[in-house]
Amino acid sequence: MADLSTNLAGWKLSNPTMTCSGTCGYAFEYADFVDLSKLGAFVTKSITREERPGNEPARIVETRAGMLNAIGLANVGLDRFLAEKVPLLKKMPCPVAVNVAGHSFEDYVETCAAMNGLSCVAAVELNVSCPNVKDGLTFGTHPPRLKELTGQVKKVLPDKKLIVKLSPNVEDITATARAAVEGGADILSLVNTFTAMAVDIHKRRPRLANVTGGLSGPAIKPIAVHLVSRVYRGVAKSAGVPIIGMGGIQYWQDAVEFILAGASAVAVGTALFVDPATPVRICEGLEQYLDKYKIGRLTDLVGALELPGDEPRQSPYQ
Ligand SMILES: Cc1cc2nc3c(=O)[nH]c(=O)nc-3n(C[C@H](O)[C@H](O)[C@H](O)COP(=O)(O)O)c2cc1C
Repeated sequence: MADLSTNLAGWKLSNPTMTCSGTCGYAFEYADFVDLSKLGAFVTKSITREERPGNEPARIVETRAGMLNAIGLANVGLDRFLAEKVPLLKKMPCPVAVNVAGHSFEDYVETCAAMNGLSCVAAVELNVSCPNVKDGLTFGTHPPRLKELTGQVKKVLPDKKLIVKLSPNVEDITATARAAVEGGADILSLVNTFTAMAVDIHKRRPRLANVTGGLSGPAIKPIAVHLVSRVYRGVAKSAGVPIIGMGGIQYWQDAVEFILAGASAVAVGTALFVDPATPVRICEGLEQYLDKYKIGRLTDLVGALELPGDEPRQSPYQ
């Protein structure tokens, strides 16, 4: 049987599957539907310093091969997270990463600092797709600002792995990936959702109350694979920084694409709404795939994609 374990900058997971932030609640919301001990890791929804009610409905709409959401970071805020959710996370049967969002440097730093002392939290994932209240500029789309934010957060998280989650809504994702790595990110995750819009043709209005939202699901998968490949080859491989790939992963074949493109782990979001046991099915498929090609360890597959111009190497597919 192939070895599915993976290693994210020293963070060892029994298998490469994770949940995508915001699609699985804070802890045990999915426990009735899926055996959480089978996950490589669980990622919470975004936590902010202040409690947030989020946007007005409609804040989720289904689109062809995808989903558009404008939840608006609805969450209980740091104080309630610590009081109500952390006791639950302590009982989680798999490693946990907490996703943190903010609207100022201070927001991020204060919330992340509170995570450093929590033994039940192995890693913090920064959601940097939020605008800064001071000037409206998104943290994750301006490389110097992203580097600064990553550096400030890294200082208050000496005991945790720091994951920076990249936005795809940029001209050159390798520039933001490099900024995150230079700021001290241990791990990169990509991608967050793509800004998009759906129209109600009868009302002649946007279907989301917020007008625009983030597109996720199978519709974005080929773009996400391309971005993972670019970041792996352009930044992550040479820096030795592992990637968590996400965006439209539904079947084990999707996971293989991301892993070949350079991901050391894969996260599942929108597909959980169709089948919460998707990560378990992905692991079963990965095992069969690795056995079929007599590949002993999943990690041997990471970045094994061959592109024109690459040095030829021994292919497991012959
Ligand atoms: C309903 C919903 C809520 C989300 N909430 C968050 C969030 O709170 N923080 C975050 O970093 N990403 C959030 N995301 C983005 C996902 O974590 C993920 O990056 C994206 O959906 C792509 O993966 P997928 O196609 O498998 O869903 C959300 C996505 C969806 C569909």
